[in-house]
Amino acid sequence: MKRKPFLAGNWKMNLDRKASVELARGLRDALAGTNDRDVAVFPPFVYLDEVVQALAGSPIKVGAQNLCDEKNGAFTGEISAEMLVDVGAKLVLVGHSERRHLYGESDELCNRKVQRALSVGLDVVLCVGEKLDERDGGRTDAVIGRQLEAGLAGVAAGSMGKLTVAYEPVWAIGTGRNATPEQAGAAHTHLRGVLRRLYGDAIAQSVRIQYGGSVKPDNISTLMNAPDVDGALVGGASLKVDSFLGIVRFK
Ligand code: PGA
Repeated sequence: MKRKPFLAGNWKMNLDRKASVELARGLRDALAGTNDRDVAVFPPFVYLDEVVQALAGSPIKVGAQNLCDEKNGAFTGEISAEMLVDVGAKLVLVGHSERRHLYGESDELCNRKVQRALSVGLDVVLCVGEKLDERDGGRTDAVIGRQLEAGLAGVAAGSMGKLTVAYEPVWAIGTGRNATPEQAGAAHTHLRGVLRRLYGDAIAQSVRIQYGGSVKPDNISTLMNAPDVDGALVGGASLKVDSFLGIVRFK
């Protein structure tokens, strides 16, 4: 089954206000009228508002990199799902490996974040990925399968249209060492099998699975040709108009 490609840029903690708006405008102008693929950017929280405004009327969607698992209240420094909706974000990343491994986010916390996001109508990109020692120990499928199943616990079939999965092997993120198309394809096929077991074939076939980890203009096409790879979540190469366009416009 052919799924519409979904290319997304995770800006992480990079750029400043001016550079964020300029990048958004550059993408807006270049991608006006693009409708054969979905495109999204994930700016830092403090620039969401301006990037949403810069992309008004553009098909490019804006998302947040994180959200709080609580609705509101005494959670100093946190940002709620409602606040994201309030500033015009349409989607949110959950469980990025930097959140899991640098900030100790558990599968259970990720699951609560998924549920919170869905409860306000945000789309979710749920990230999973194994560390190098887990891959070397032959545990890739077990780790990413567990992260996916735990992250989706209690998520109804009717919400799965709002879900994208991102497979991001930790050893490939920001290292210049992307997974081979064979490695990515095998992991994606495994993840789709988990979705099939949880939700049945029709839903499993419709959910998009992005690959992330050192995606560049010169490797996107071969990665996109791998089985079950439906898009990319891009970090470093999404910070400049030209390199992100080189990925979005893959053939
Ligand atoms: P990278 O990051 O493209 O810089 O490897 C990917 C990600 O963390 O989403």
